[in-house]
Amino acid sequence: MMSHFLDIHTTSRADLRAMIDQARAMKEARRGLPKGTADARTPLAGRMIALIFEKPSTRTRVSFDVGARQMGAETMILSGKEMQLGHGESIADTARVLSRYVDLIMLRTFEEATLLEMAEHATVPVINGLTDASHPCQIMADIVTYEEHRGAVAGRKFVWSGDGNNVCTSWLHAAGRFGFDLTFTGPETLDPNPRAVEFARAQGSRVEIVRDPMAAAAGADAIVTDTWVSMHDPESARERRHNQLRPYQVNGAMMAAARADALFMHCLPAHRNEEATSEVMDGPQSVIFDESENRLHAQKAILRWCLGV
Ligand code: CP
Repeated sequence: MMSHFLDIHTTSRADLRAMIDQARAMKEARRGLPKGTADARTPLAGRMIALIFEKPSTRTRVSFDVGARQMGAETMILSGKEMQLGHGESIADTARVLSRYVDLIMLRTFEEATLLEMAEHATVPVINGLTDASHPCQIMADIVTYEEHRGAVAGRKFVWSGDGNNVCTSWLHAAGRFGFDLTFTGPETLDPNPRAVEFARAQGSRVEIVRDPMAAAAGADAIVTDTWVSMHDPESARERRHNQLRPYQVNGAMMAAARADALFMHCLPAHRNEEATSEVMDGPQSVIFDESENRLHAQKAILRWCLGV
């Protein structure tokens, strides 16, 4: 059976949990192996996977490519600009055509509607590799990361500091699905997506909006942030955003306000000493490079789930 992986809130709790557990087991199973060595089992042998990027990427691109190959698949990385997609061919026709050549499509794009249209018309699974609205693969990797360091996420308090952007939206979806609480701290103008807040609350999570970053950090099990200017934000907004977000920088004082064993998380790429200080990013509570590594393991589980193998 094939399944699209479009968002965390549109995927069942049981399936999400199974993917997290499988990601951890697959990571453990290849501990110590060179990165280019195939897994002991190669469930994607004979499959062809298209990775389409309409925006820049380092982690998503490399982790999907390496992960698919470790499981025996062939991959092709496509730039949206160099495809007919970027020159007027419809998304629906692109989806129908690609479905004749490949077994799965991973798409990083701007509008969520583009992803949804691709999924509607593709006859192979489609994975959300980030849109302006959400970034579910990242948060799946982040759940793997938190749990391997500190145990179950359920019942924990995560604090998001900064811009209520697409990554924050996926954290809210995950709060609802995995049963943890999320406190947002940031300026009112950059509040998180109200539908994502509503979703998490409806699932039973406590979601709070606290303007004082120190008060928000109190009792936190993890503090999470992201760049102050996202890929989809206009360059003209840079100075205003910096002024608004400076009080929400994750620094030593903010980490000290959290629990002593709190983790610092960031999906990267980061602008060091803007949204977080280098002291925090390179400090003992930081798990940022584990998050990057776990993109690989989490996405391998997502690929298997999509293809039903
Ligand atoms: N975190 C993340 O998605 O990184 P890339 O933009 O490098 O893929």
